Amino acid sequence: MKILTLHGINLNMFGKRDPKTYGTTTLAEIDAQLVALGQELGTEVACFQSNFEGAMVERIHAAHTEGVDAIVINAGAWTHYSYGIRDALAILQCPIVEVHMSNVHAREAFRHHSVLAEIAQGQIAGFGVDSYLLGLRTAVTHAKARQA
Ligand code: DQA
Repeated sequence: MKILTLHGINLNMFGKRDPKTYGTTTLAEIDAQLVALGQELGTEVACFQSNFEGAMVERIHAAHTEGVDAIVINAGAWTHYSYGIRDALAILQCPIVEVHMSNVHAREAFRHHSVLAEIAQGQIAGFGVDSYLLGLRTAVTHAKARQA
């Protein structure tokens, strides 16, 4: 089983960026925790980050060709306005789990709406790095259920 974790715009700055909101864990540390949890769960975890919307769209297209079993995505600010990312994700047949480190619903109004929510299986927000780890767990559960 292969799960792809996608990190969108500005998320390479985790660890340095607004630590009160996002904590001090770096993206590399988050990826290492995801890979370790993947090993525990018996699944391969690949991670990708970009600040370029086109590069993210092309990585999602490649995921279609590769046939990944599920996607865990924190699209950052793209969550709130990128129909390009949404349309790319909608091409995939596999479960998509939307995650956010912060509780977007308790923040500024523009963060309350996700253009990805409609095409995602569900959303996990507000639990810091645990949002990703919970996202990976449920992505594996849903991907396995589809294979059964
Ligand atoms: C975020 C929330 C978004 O609103 C914001 O633009 C981010 C990070 C989060 O992980 O909490 O860049 O996706």
